[in-house]
Amino acid sequence: MQRVYAGIDTYLLNTALQAYTISGLVAEMGSGSAVQLITLANLNSDMREAFGIEIDARARNVSKFNLALNRCEDRVTVLGGSAALNNCLHGRPLDFAFSNPPFFVAPESVPSARRGKAINLALLCETSGYGGPDGLAVTREFVQDLAPLLSTHAGLLFYSQFACARQDTPLALVELPRVLPAKLSAWSARFEKFPVHTNLFDFSAEDWSRSLALMISTRHPRLSTPEVAAIESGVRDHFMRKELAGITSGFLEFGSVPRRSSIEIDDRDFVRMDELISNELACENAA
Ligand SMILES: C[S@@+](CC[C@H](N)C(=O)[O-])C[C@H]1O[C@@H](n2cnc3c(N)ncnc32)[C@H](O)[C@@H]1O
Repeated sequence: MQRVYAGIDTYLLNTALQAYTISGLVAEMGSGSAVQLITLANLNSDMREAFGIEIDARARNVSKFNLALNRCEDRVTVLGGSAALNNCLHGRPLDFAFSNPPFFVAPESVPSARRGKAINLALLCETSGYGGPDGLAVTREFVQDLAPLLSTHAGLLFYSQFACARQDTPLALVELPRVLPAKLSAWSARFEKFPVHTNLFDFSAEDWSRSLALMISTRHPRLSTPEVAAIESGVRDHFMRKELAGITSGFLEFGSVPRRSSIEIDDRDFVRMDELISNELACENAA
């Protein structure tokens, strides 16, 4: 059973969002439990109204509960898709949109050790994780859905782990402007690496293949050892074929997103969050 998404990236994005000054109309793509929108509503009295778009019905239900609990339901609404967002906006443009999208970089499937069988990675990674062969499949969809709804003065922010051809240069910096419409093509784009002195979120192709295989095997304990090894080598081969050097973590901003301060993350908090998530995973496995 898939639980409503909450990962270490949830905590990290939540801390980072506190550095931004948000006003007007806001949308989050893939809003999960709505924790990010609740934080923004609490910190930004100038944020008039915010919308979360979430594909998972269970997460939308949890969001309703969280919004009521935090008394945000008059300013924040969670919807099932961008068509519903379009209806709610009544032609009013968005001032700010953001996302922590599914990003796992992996081929759709890899050959299994058992002849004639393929292992479907898109399925095993689940909706909260799989990002397609370059990690940007869902992010591209989000940009395309949002683009007609954004004001020309708006800001667009992605917090993600991005595939890079060279160390620390995300493909997304080149790929995403290609899907922005002409009215937004003059927007500046900038990438800022995550400000934590740990390399936990920066992976070489080798490390990423190993970590992804481990993550998938933790969530799917019935996979056999040869199947997990096939996932690791299949993902590593994919990185080599695509000439991808690895994964880097950070913020990709398009247009203007005002900040009240720089993004500060205490390394000790980071370690504490890591333990929290590991414990949570352990509980999930024990259940
Ligand atoms: C990495 S999680 C982030 C959740 C939340 N924003 C957070 O920070 O905890 C990605 C979320 O995107 C949702 N998602 C995946 N594909 C989607 C799509 N096409 N449209 C809307 N939501 C989607 C997933 O269900 C998941 O809740």
